[in-house]
Amino acid sequence: MINRNAPVGVFDSGIGGLTVVREIMRQIPNERIVYFGDTARLPYGSKSKETVTRYSRQIVRFLQSQEVKAIVVACNTASAYALEEIERETDIPMIGVVKPGAKAAVEATSNGKVGVIGTEATIGSSIYSRYIKEISPETIVIGKACPLFVPLVEEGLWQDPVTDEIAKRYLTELNDIGIDTLILGCTHYPLIRSTVGRVMGEKVTLVNPAYETARELKELLNTRELENEETAGLGDNRYRFYVSDGAEKFKQFANSIIKYGILSAKIINMEGY
Ligand code: DGL
Repeated sequence: MINRNAPVGVFDSGIGGLTVVREIMRQIPNERIVYFGDTARLPYGSKSKETVTRYSRQIVRFLQSQEVKAIVVACNTASAYALEEIERETDIPMIGVVKPGAKAAVEATSNGKVGVIGTEATIGSSIYSRYIKEISPETIVIGKACPLFVPLVEEGLWQDPVTDEIAKRYLTELNDIGIDTLILGCTHYPLIRSTVGRVMGEKVTLVNPAYETARELKELLNTRELENEETAGLGDNRYRFYVSDGAEKFKQFANSIIKYGILSAKIINMEGY
């Protein structure tokens, strides 16, 4: 029997998943969260399906040890490569970010031309295209891998001429094709949303799957009767952050992404899971 007052587990390869955490905090503030960022093994986007699945499986085991009641795979790459397999291996309800993002894009597009940007793994898997075509077979989906965006974000170059230049090189072809909707198919990308928006122009709607993911999580907790029932303040233990390396750097980043002050991030050795 799952404890409905237990935390929700959220994981990503690094800091990107905090853009999903931010949205969960906003939409369902009464939930506890345990976050894990696999900062020692980032990036996932250039690794194989087998490796990303093995890492994701270890993280799920860690989150299980924290007795989470549900898991959000807040990483597009892990959602694309590992989610289908790891969700079969546990009873804990699990959601990824790809399906919610695909749904949001279908709702947003008017001309039926949707672009997706993400890691090499996410784009190579064609998973967004698969989910979009399940809902709307006639929609045209154009994927573009943007492998330099993750290191730029991790380096803190969120507003920088270098990022502007690279964004132009990656995105011009999507503009030329005439997409009217662009999915930010990597959880790091909302942090350079303004740069991407500037390059794409006002006519292109940017879809951040985090919003729809938090909404789906809320719905899932509701239908499974897993919403936190505690009405009093959730105390200091409300949000807990764990990483596999670089706790201090993570803490600084996290404090610039989410409003809730993060007092500490603990290092976990994943070899043990
Ligand atoms: N944040 C991850 C995603 O959403 C990608 C970062 C990485 O390559 O590790 O795909």
